[in-house]
Amino acid sequence: MSNRKMITAALPYANGPVHIGHLAGVYIPADVYARFQRRLGKDVAFICGSDEHGIPITIRAKKEGVTPQDIVDKYHEVIKKSFADLGISFDEYSRTTSKKHYETSQDFFKTLYEKGKFTEEVSEQYFDEQANEFLADRYIVGTCPNCGNENAYGDQCEKCGSTLSPSELINPKSMLSGNVPVLKATKNWYLPLNEYESFLNEWIIEGHKDDWKPNVYGQVKSWLNDGLKPRAMTRDLNWGVPVPLPGAEGKVLYVWFDAPIGYISFTKEWAEKNGKDWKDYWQSEGSDLVHFIGKDNIVFHCIIFPSMMKAHGDYIMPKNVPAFEFLNLENDKISTSRNWAVWAHEYVEDFPGQQDVLRYALLSSAPETKDNNFTWKDFQTKNNSELVGIFGNFINRVAVLINKNFDGIIPEGDINAPELEEIGIKATEIKNYLENYEFRNALTSFMNLARFGNKYLADEEPWKTIKTDLDKTKKILFIGAQIAAALGNLAEPFLPFTAQKIYDIFNIKQMNWNDIEHSKVLIEAGHKINVAPLLFSQIEDSVIDAQIEKLEQTKQNNKKTNPNATPMKEQINFDDFTKIDLRTATILEAEKVEKADKLLKLTVDTGVDVRTVVSGIAESFTPEELIGKQVMILLNLAPRKIRGIESQGMLLLTTKSDGKLSFVTPDDQVENGVEIG
Ligand code: 2FM
Ligand code: ZN
Repeated sequence: MSNRKMITAALPYANGPVHIGHLAGVYIPADVYARFQRRLGKDVAFICGSDEHGIPITIRAKKEGVTPQDIVDKYHEVIKKSFADLGISFDEYSRTTSKKHYETSQDFFKTLYEKGKFTEEVSEQYFDEQANEFLADRYIVGTCPNCGNENAYGDQCEKCGSTLSPSELINPKSMLSGNVPVLKATKNWYLPLNEYESFLNEWIIEGHKDDWKPNVYGQVKSWLNDGLKPRAMTRDLNWGVPVPLPGAEGKVLYVWFDAPIGYISFTKEWAEKNGKDWKDYWQSEGSDLVHFIGKDNIVFHCIIFPSMMKAHGDYIMPKNVPAFEFLNLENDKISTSRNWAVWAHEYVEDFPGQQDVLRYALLSSAPETKDNNFTWKDFQTKNNSELVGIFGNFINRVAVLINKNFDGIIPEGDINAPELEEIGIKATEIKNYLENYEFRNALTSFMNLARFGNKYLADEEPWKTIKTDLDKTKKILFIGAQIAAALGNLAEPFLPFTAQKIYDIFNIKQMNWNDIEHSKVLIEAGHKINVAPLLFSQIEDSVIDAQIEKLEQTKQNNKKTNPNATPMKEQINFDDFTKIDLRTATILEAEKVEKADKLLKLTVDTGVDVRTVVSGIAESFTPEELIGKQVMILLNLAPRKIRGIESQGMLLLTTKSDGKLSFVTPDDQVENGVEIG
């Protein structure tokens, strides 16, 4: 078995914060695995960073009306902080806009180019004439030819998981303008994936039938059965790593070409800072490369990236690609656009100091083999019944009893007591599960040791024996202390914050996993421990209800056809309505109001009279274009002075999506003074 572990976690797009789906399906399991491998004494590099290129970023920037750089700067920080707050122990968390990444991904591309691994193809690509842009990947949506999903993207159908190219979509539509795109010729560089089929078949289908997860193996097998096609590794876009070839201006590397290379670039950054050689991790057979990903990333990590590395020639292949299924929230698909999520940064704010509770809850419902579900009630039960009721209760009772009855000194006990066997058994069990990427089983084994300890105390009742049999009590608490120290140590990959608290309580240092497997005594008699704060506290119904209410609010907002629409005002009755006098009118004159950028002074024929109205519309209309315009006026609004001018009424206006104002007008010209209602 190799001594070096090169562990990667999928680079999150820096187009929004991370949520519990990301945490449960990639980052927490990856962190458990990395922490565990360190504890085995392995030379671990645990690498991740923000994926800052690609259409998801530019779409978000367009939506927020800012630059892609603004978007990635903002979300890189938010994501990085959430990971740190939740104890995700990356050795390096960088970003694909870093200088090293540009160099590394461009060098990689050039190597493949110089080795003749690409084909150059001029093809007709969809182009949005209004936006004047080629429509790659997620800039285009249409109907999936495989499953009929009407919202499939140009690179992938999220419903059936198939990879697509824009030309395969039925009824394609531009995401930029909503228009039907036209075809326009352009040159791009393709990786002929079909040439790697036999290599992939031999390496994965023949070589990893028994050790890769069935969901990963099955997906790869089905793609290979269908046959692979050449895939463009460049795009006509203005956001991304520029294609490093003469004559390739305006073209960038395909985000799925540059992003996985990010794993390598960031390893280089980390290695440089830590006096390591990155090649030991990526180009040496003594290294195990393991990619933690979500199931939607399988094709990229098992077919495309390995083909790129094979084409390059210097890289090792992944040892395993543990891909997770998806986590639902309260029985509904997690969705960023519907805000149906528990956001990591909000959790950290709402539950200060309770990071391990989330880690525990998410690990115990990790979507390992099938989609799974997170509910707040379940979260509460896991905390109150398991963390507080079993684990925390056991640790606390042991520490309190030793402090109270033995001045905090571990009493003498039987180092051959049969109960101590359980420590090694559980350490080995957890190890075997974790080596096999079975995180839920590993967590259950861990919790079973806490259950074992709890039951042991309940059966032996040291709080009673202390009055009758001091020697027996010493022996019980000696065993209790060994189990508590083991639990602290074994908790560390799963619950690192709690593990640290247990180390502090028992005044111990973290041990190597192999030593825990083989030694029954973890704390010697005579060792002094510290006072014991509570490890976990009950989460009250009111706290859970507030979270459920937050989601309920989201549900209400999602029912709106326009999520940005402000809620309805208080109801009025018909009498209230009849008091409002709305009329058609025509603007006769319009002029700017001095020293007021937003205001125009209008003279309006209301059919009833000719009057003055001051209106804040100067940023949307010039005075000239308003002359003769038919409008609607609220006639009986009490006059009020605006910049010294009396305004007699109010014109009806609405706001367009670009922020400019627009008059509410009748469909056809009507006489002035006609009532509206
Ligand atoms: O699906 C995603 O969120 C991608 N940003 C994952 C990239 S993983 C890697 F290859 F960089
Ligand atoms: Zn589909």
